[in-house]
Amino acid sequence: MENFSELIENRRSMRKFTSDELTQEEVVALLKVGLMSPSSKRTNCWQFIAVDDKEVLKKLSLCKEQSASFIADAALAIVVVADPLASDVWIEDASIASIIIQLQAEDLGLGSCWVQVRERFTAEGIPSDEYVRNLLDVPLQLQVLSVIAVGHKGMERKPFNEEHLQWEKIHINKYGGK
Ligand SMILES: Cc1cc2nc3c(=O)[nH]c(=O)nc-3n(C[C@H](O)[C@H](O)[C@H](O)COP(=O)(O)O)c2cc1C
Repeated sequence: MENFSELIENRRSMRKFTSDELTQEEVVALLKVGLMSPSSKRTNCWQFIAVDDKEVLKKLSLCKEQSASFIADAALAIVVVADPLASDVWIEDASIASIIIQLQAEDLGLGSCWVQVRERFTAEGIPSDEYVRNLLDVPLQLQVLSVIAVGHKGMERKPFNEEHLQWEKIHINKYGGK
């Protein structure tokens, strides 16, 4: 368990994984935080599809033309879907759940990366959400927001460098206020 500031500094997107599997406890911990994520009016409009089947992971890695290939080597992919009819802020709710899963992964010493699905396309020009829906039998009323790829870190990444903080994006009391 890292302290919170260290956790935030150390969480960097991991796109290279070892072949080590996750324990059942790790998988449960990752899914549990999804279910504990805050959601507007506690509608809990999200659902999570845990994929650990190697063949399915390989197919899932083709959900986008680029920046998704590493899903094939992940031990687990958590597909975050949500019901827009249950909440008008489903994108926010599903996004919060996605990042909380990533923070839990870091806390477990695991690597993770968010793969954007909504508004993206496969190499063949099929909408990525449609591709994932067909692959995983996602019901029509649910939208696919993201895939969170998780696994044991396959490379070192430096923590966030505080020298890169864009303090100019902070405004005090009014826009442009110092
Ligand atoms: C909404 C969102 C969508 C993202 N989509 C992808 C993606 O499709 N593929 C990918 O490799 N990384 C994706 N990322 C990861 C970002 O590229 C990464 O967070 C950013 O470059 C900062 O790097 P860091 O996470 O290592 O600090 C996404 C991140 C966010 C927040």
